Amino acid sequence: MSRASSLDLAPAARIRAAEAMRAAAGPELGPLALEQAVLKQRARAKHPDGERLWWTAEALEQASSYDVAVHRARRFADAPQVLDLCCSVGGDLLALAAVVPTVGVDLDEARLLLAAENATELGLSVQLMRADVTGLNPTGAVFADPARRAGGRRVFDPRAYTPPLDQLLGWLPQLEALGVKVAPGLDYDRLPPELEVELVSLRGDVKEAVLWGGTARRGTRRMATLLPGGDVLTDHAVDTPAVRAPGPFLLEPDGAVIRAHLVAQVAAQVQGWLLDETIAYVSAEAVVPTPFGNWYEVLEVLPFGLKALRERLRSYDAGPLVVKKRGTAVQPEELRRRLKLTGSRELTVVLTRAHGRQIALIARPVASLG
Ligand SMILES: C[S@@+](CC[C@H](N)C(=O)[O-])C[C@H]1O[C@@H](n2cnc3c(N)ncnc32)[C@H](O)[C@@H]1O
Repeated sequence: MSRASSLDLAPAARIRAAEAMRAAAGPELGPLALEQAVLKQRARAKHPDGERLWWTAEALEQASSYDVAVHRARRFADAPQVLDLCCSVGGDLLALAAVVPTVGVDLDEARLLLAAENATELGLSVQLMRADVTGLNPTGAVFADPARRAGGRRVFDPRAYTPPLDQLLGWLPQLEALGVKVAPGLDYDRLPPELEVELVSLRGDVKEAVLWGGTARRGTRRMATLLPGGDVLTDHAVDTPAVRAPGPFLLEPDGAVIRAHLVAQVAAQVQGWLLDETIAYVSAEAVVPTPFGNWYEVLEVLPFGLKALRERLRSYDAGPLVVKKRGTAVQPEELRRRLKLTGSRELTVVLTRAHGRQIALIARPVASLG
C-alpha cells in the first residue's frame, strides 16, 4: 500500500504506476493497492483524513463531505446514542461517533469492514451491525442517508430511496430525533409540516437537504446553512419583496438560500427588491455585506439582443465572459461563441427577465471593484 501511495498517481502516469504495482505486488494485489492509493488521494477533497481511510470508488462518491457531516452530527450531541442507518464506510458515522455513541447499520458486509477499520484508524469507537434497514423498527435517535441509487442509476423519486422516504418518516412518532439526508431538489412543500428542512451548501455548492424531526429540530420550518462558515438564514417572516427595475447592484443568492425558498429573507436583509417575482436575483441601491450571496456592480442594463449586447461589450473591451442566467433559455457557451469578443477585460453578463421581458445586465463582481 505504501509503495502504491509513493507512486506518481496522476492520470497521465497511471499506466506506469500500474506496471510498477503489478511487478511489486503481483497481478491481483497490485491493481487493488493502486486503486486504493488513487481513492485515498481523491478522498482528501472530502475528508481531512481521507488519505488514512479506506474507500471503494462508489462509497467515496456517496460519502458525505466532512464539513457537512460534522455540522449535522452536532444536532445529535445530546442524544444518548444514535443509529446511523446506511452507514457505508463511514462518511457520517465517523463524524457522529466523534460526538455521540453511534451504531452504524448497513447491508454491505465489505463496507462495514471498511467502516470498522476507518473508525479504528481515527481512534473512534463504533458499533456496527449488518442488517437490511427496511426490516428495522428503530427507536431513539436516527440519522439516515438512504441509498439514492438503484441498478447503478441515481433515483430522484424519494419513494425509490432505500429505505423509501415514506418508511423513514413513518418511524417519526416512535423516534426521539430524526435526521434524513435527501437530494436538494425534493419538493419540500409536500412534506409533513412537523419536519424542518435544512439546505446546506459548502463553499457555494449546494450539497444536500436534511429533514429534521423530533428533538433534532431547531424551531424553524426552512433554513439555509452555508458551510464552512456556518451562517444560517431562517424562514422568519418578512414582507414580500417589491418587484422593480434593476438598480446599481445585484445579489446572486447562495444556492442553499434559493433552494430553501429564502430569497425574500435575503432581500429584506439587504434592503433589496426583485427584478421579477419568480426569479432569484436581488437588486439593491447599495452593497450590504452578507454571507448569503455574491454581489455584482451593474454597469449597464439592456433589452436582450445579440447585436446590441455585442456592441456594448466591445465598448468595455470585454473578452473572457462569465455568463449567469435565470429565467432564460439562452445557452452560455452558444452566447459566448456568437458574441465573438476579443477584448481583454473579464466581465459578467447576467441574462434574466424583468417584468416578463428578457434583459441582459453587464456587470462585474464587487470583490474585483477598483
Ligand atoms: C448513500 S450511502 C451512505 C453514505 C454514508 N452516509 C457516508 O457518508 O459514507 C447508502 C448506503 O446504504 C446501504 N444500503 C442500501 N440498501 C440498504 C438496505 N436495505 N439496508 C441497509 N443498508 C442499505 C448501501 O450499502 C450504502 O452503503
